Amino acid sequence: MTSMAAAQAPKSRDDCPELARIVDLIASENPLQKKRIEAFLNTRGPEYWTFAEGLSRILNHSFLTSDAARQEAARAYNKMCKDFLAEQIRFKKTGKYRVADAAEAQVHVYDDLTVMRYYMLGLLVSYMFWPNHYELFRFFLNHLPKPGIKRYLEIGLGHGLFSSTLLSRFPGVTGTAVDISETSISVATETLRTFQADLNRLRIVHGDYLTTDIGGADFDFIVMGEVLEHVNDAGAFMRRTKELLAPGGTVYMSTCANCPALDHVYHFKCVRQIRHLMDDAGFRIAAELALPAENIPEDQWEEELVTINYCALLEHA
Ligand SMILES: C[S@@+](CC[C@H](N)C(=O)[O-])C[C@H]1O[C@@H](n2cnc3c(N)ncnc32)[C@H](O)[C@@H]1O
Repeated sequence: MTSMAAAQAPKSRDDCPELARIVDLIASENPLQKKRIEAFLNTRGPEYWTFAEGLSRILNHSFLTSDAARQEAARAYNKMCKDFLAEQIRFKKTGKYRVADAAEAQVHVYDDLTVMRYYMLGLLVSYMFWPNHYELFRFFLNHLPKPGIKRYLEIGLGHGLFSSTLLSRFPGVTGTAVDISETSISVATETLRTFQADLNRLRIVHGDYLTTDIGGADFDFIVMGEVLEHVNDAGAFMRRTKELLAPGGTVYMSTCANCPALDHVYHFKCVRQIRHLMDDAGFRIAAELALPAENIPEDQWEEELVTINYCALLEHA
């Protein structure tokens, strides 16, 4: 699925010892998580084994080399899952996100180096074990631009998975990545090194996307995964993205509706609102995916405050 693939692609779960180590690690801290992961793994096929075994190998040989680091990471992942659940329960009662301003999230999450490091590692692991996150990443891979693009921009570099993939898939491309969190940049740099990405082709800018000079425009491809829900003015983010996109370029974006978290600020109440925002900023949605977190009919999503993961491929309207 990506360049993380082993020399010989695994055909079944039995060919995935690195993945087994990660599953055991998480299960040792929380047997309930093991049940959920097992249920998901039981429905997977070869494309998944290649992706998950490759990513697990990278994690096992970079971030998780000592027992202390492994235990801390397993706790962090389980804590992230529990935090999400607790926020869900609170949200179903109040209908509101806890944090109303991005500056607050910055103090409690982005600027706390320990919290942010394990949040980013947990998020990276979630692309392997959360069915909706895995589907977002598959959509990203299935909607990459044609070979030959020259310049890409990633907004919210986070853990580095998306930039690592782009640098390895597009040997001629140069990237710019912007992130407001120094911890994200340091975790991403570690991921990029482990993926053996060519860091000479990536310019990393530390700062707020809306106010920082990122030194350039006319990007052929722009990636903005899971960022809009973290900001005060999602419309301004999309308008700036429209200005920076080259004619004929495309944008991969993902976000979510009714998805409470300790650092989620911008509250999309339904998929329609996300689509309107893209339209208002001058984009056309060329492809999209809306994934509910609960098995509830679409016409009840909004009323039942169902969490929806959403991603789209955008073009200039
Ligand atoms: C949830 S992570 C997403 C990581 C990755 N892109 C993904 O799709 O999984 C959000 C990232 O956006 C960054 N971020 C949040 N607000 C930002 C802003 N105003 N400007 C730049 N980066 C921002 C955070 O520091 C964090 O690294």
